[in-house]
Amino acid sequence: MSSAPSISVRGVSLSFGKSRARTMALQGVFAEFQAGQFTIVGGPSGSGKTSLLSVIGGLLSPDEGAVVTSAGEISGMDKGALAAFRRQHCGFVFQGFRLFDALSAAENLAMSLALRQMHLPRRAIDAALDAVGLSGKARLRPNEMSGGEKQRVAVARALLHEPAYVFADEPTASLDRESGLRVAELLRDLVVRKGRLLVLVSHDERLTPFADRVLSMEDGRIVS
Ligand SMILES: Nc1ncnc2c1ncn2[C@@H]1O[C@H](COP(=O)(O)OP(=O)(O)OP(=O)(O)O)[C@@H](O)[C@H]1O
Ligand SMILES: [Mg+2]
Repeated sequence: MSSAPSISVRGVSLSFGKSRARTMALQGVFAEFQAGQFTIVGGPSGSGKTSLLSVIGGLLSPDEGAVVTSAGEISGMDKGALAAFRRQHCGFVFQGFRLFDALSAAENLAMSLALRQMHLPRRAIDAALDAVGLSGKARLRPNEMSGGEKQRVAVARALLHEPAYVFADEPTASLDRESGLRVAELLRDLVVRKGRLLVLVSHDERLTPFADRVLSMEDGRIVS
C-alpha cells in the first residue's frame, strides 16, 4: 500500500431484509480510523458492531453513504473488486472463527496465504502459531482444539500476511486471562510498531488499556 492505512466512514446505513422484516443495522454512521490506531467498538448485542466491521472491511456494501480507505473508496465496488481489496489489505478474526474443519492449524494458515497467492516459508507459519502460544499444536484440526486454541489460530491467520487493516470480532471471548492479554499485546504491537489500523469489537474490559479509543454503539449508531 502506498499511503498509511486510513478508513473514513461517511453517513453509512445498512439494512437487512425487506419491508416489515427490515432491520436497520447501521443508521448514518460517521467515523474515522487512522494508521497506528487501536480502536475498540463496544455496545450491546444487536447494536451494529459486526455490521460496522463488515462494512469497513469490505464484506458488505452499505445501502447509503461512503467508505473511503487509503486504498480507495470501497463502497460501491463490485464483488470481485471487494474480494481483491480484502485479500490484499485486510485480516479478519471472525466471531465464530471460520476455520476450515478439514485442515490442521498450520494448513489453515497456509490456505490463507494460498488464497492471497502469497508464499512464505513453513517457519513463518510456525512462528505465527508460536506468537499466539500454539507451538506444538500446528498439526491439530479445529475439532481437536479448545475454543481458545481455535480463536488463537484465527488470530494468527489474520495477521500472517501482514495486512494494513485488521478487523477482529470478539477475538478474546473464549480466552483465559493470560491468553487474552497475550493476544492483546500481539495486536497492540502490530499497531504501534508497524503502524497498522486495528478495529476490534469487544465487551472485554481487560482490553481497554491496550486501545487508543473506545467507540460505543447503540441501535446502529455510534453514541460516544
Ligand atoms: N444476516 C442478517 N440478517 C438479518 N438481520 C441481521 C443480519 N445480521 C445482523 N442483523 C441484524 O442487524 C442488527 C445488528 O446486528 P450486528 O450483528 O451488527 O450486531 P452486533 O452488535 O454485532 O451484536 P452481537 O454483540 O450480538 O454480535 C441486529 O438487529 C441484527 O439482528
Ligand atoms: Mg456481532
